[in-house]
Amino acid sequence: MLSISYRRFALSDWERVRALLSHEGEASEHDADVLASQPAEAWLAMEGDQVVGWVLTRPLLSEDGVQRGGVEDIVVARTQRGRGVGRHLMELAESHYRQRGFGGMQLNVRADNEPARRLYESMGYAIVQHRLRMSKQFR
Ligand SMILES: CC(C)(COP(=O)(O)OP(=O)(O)OC[C@H]1O[C@@H](n2cnc3c(N)ncnc32)[C@H](O)[C@@H]1OP(=O)(O)O)[C@@H](O)C(=O)NCCC(=O)NCCS
Repeated sequence: MLSISYRRFALSDWERVRALLSHEGEASEHDADVLASQPAEAWLAMEGDQVVGWVLTRPLLSEDGVQRGGVEDIVVARTQRGRGVGRHLMELAESHYRQRGFGGMQLNVRADNEPARRLYESMGYAIVQHRLRMSKQFR
């Protein structure tokens, strides 16, 4: 098995990232929008020339007025999960924003996404807000 290496994302990597997202059943529209409209920063986990992990971030000004690194997406290929790839990608993002003087990180996660919540909690993230989604059905 090839070992995993890590590097910064470049726009020329996007098709390979899309291949990862589609292979893992993850939507790519949100990530494409973030890349197109924001000063985004992203990192890749590579196995050979294949992208097996991706974290997408952007700088944001939180509601409390603190500048944080916003994690917009993180996906690791199923075949590589549970081996520390997600944690390493998060650490790369954190160290980038820390070095640039940001106050911390911020992200949204679904309440039922146990692996992701555990990852974030194990890295010191705490819940600051529970959101409710409301909808109405037209009859
Ligand atoms: C969330 C995700 C990125 C984690 O990536 P990963 O490479 O498997 O995570 P790691 O191996 O670095 O795990 C780090 C920690 O996360 C937690 N964790 C990861 N997978 C877990 C699982 N299936 N169940 C419980 N905890 C889990 C553990 O605390 C783990 O630390 P440990 O190995 O010391 O116990 C991966 O599961 C994934 O791609 N999920 C689908 C996409 C997704 O939901 N992204 C998050 C959007 S908010």
